[in-house]
Amino acid sequence: MTETVLRGRLLTFHRAPRNGEDAGAYTFIEDGALLIRDGLIARRGEYGEIARLAPEATVTDHRPMLLMAGFIDTHIHFPQIQVIASWGAQLLDWLNTYTFPEETRFADPDHAARMARAFFDQLIAHGTTTATAFCSVHPASVEAYFAEAERRGMAMLGGKVLMDRNAPDGLRDTPQSAYDDTSALIAKWHGRGRARYVISPRFAITSTPEQMEMAGTLARENPDCPIQTHLSENKDEIAYTASLYPQARDYLDVYEQYGLVRANTLLGHAIHLLPREIEALAASGAHPVFCPTSNLFLGSGLFDHEGLAGRGILSGIATDVGGGTSYSMLETLSEGYKILQLNGQALHPLQAFDWATRANAAVLGMEDRIGTLDEGTAADIVVLDACATPAMALRMERARSLAEELFVLQVMGDDRAIAEVYVAGRAAKRATAGAGPRLL
Ligand code: GUN
Ligand code: ZN
Repeated sequence: MTETVLRGRLLTFHRAPRNGEDAGAYTFIEDGALLIRDGLIARRGEYGEIARLAPEATVTDHRPMLLMAGFIDTHIHFPQIQVIASWGAQLLDWLNTYTFPEETRFADPDHAARMARAFFDQLIAHGTTTATAFCSVHPASVEAYFAEAERRGMAMLGGKVLMDRNAPDGLRDTPQSAYDDTSALIAKWHGRGRARYVISPRFAITSTPEQMEMAGTLARENPDCPIQTHLSENKDEIAYTASLYPQARDYLDVYEQYGLVRANTLLGHAIHLLPREIEALAASGAHPVFCPTSNLFLGSGLFDHEGLAGRGILSGIATDVGGGTSYSMLETLSEGYKILQLNGQALHPLQAFDWATRANAAVLGMEDRIGTLDEGTAADIVVLDACATPAMALRMERARSLAEELFVLQVMGDDRAIAEVYVAGRAAKRATAGAGPRLL
């Protein structure tokens, strides 16, 4: 049994901070330590106490850096790793012009495997230890994704997108093949190691009613599998959806009619919601997912976080690469802050860091396993350096509180602020640093 100790300034959340003064929402230990055993956090405490408990353990001293739970990205597209930063279009044109052609390439297992290595390198470089991804329509993309996750010991969620219309040749399945392929992938991957399969009808526009019916059957047969899709991201998308499903009361109703809206459903974007949709979301326990960099980049609109939270709805926050423009959850929180500013909503840094860790874990129903530094949970940890760049170090000279330090990380940080990442207790960033060019 190998035991290791990580020493540093520990920050972990117990619930969403109500405001910047809500000290009961988190634990901060200035000279803290985590005792890691078998990939789990066995003990958390003051360094002196942990050192007495495990005098033989190897100690890695990260002071004065912050140790937090690894970031969780609740909405990202694995096959868009080479779509990110594609110019000049809003959602539907962007999909047709850039995204769909690129996703056709993931039919090739070699391409998918090479991209998976690069994708996971990027997640780790940016401090993300768990993500929920849309793979392409091809089972080969899912195989590559989960095989790479397994190789790295990462808790990853994902699934093949279901799409049988309004997409080019080579990127459509059928209701039956969608059912067969998804069922086989669930049997192989769901619950294997740290993998979780997510039933993934892409969105209403790319699925026929027959396929939506099949998605509903898959959802019924696999209640433990989360469901992910897209909802009310863009005005043209909403109008087109209404024309394709004229009997639906609104966009959400399309998914409701097929049994796809439940407590473990993730709905990307959810920007332009009607009052009835908000009520139905609240009643279902489903989770909207805020994708700030994507919403700005594609000109989609401004997410109403407080409006939804006020109805008791728990939202996730995510990058949505490649509509999103960064793998960094720090940059995502920064852009999220700016969007909420435009809505007159002030996101406190304590709330922001809780969102990217514990709250996103709660959105995935995994708060007992990831998202905190609690004993018994996985040792998926990020080490944050608020002085990572000269500009950050200058600003930090004037920082007087933990909240100010967090806000510097949020507003100025990116992958350079991620000093190290631990996956199930093993250092993962140093191991892959500089590997990008070799893999490509
Ligand atoms: N809606 C359906 N597919 C997608 C996608 O790939 N990206 C975004 N941002 N929205 C979508
Ligand atoms: Zn998306």
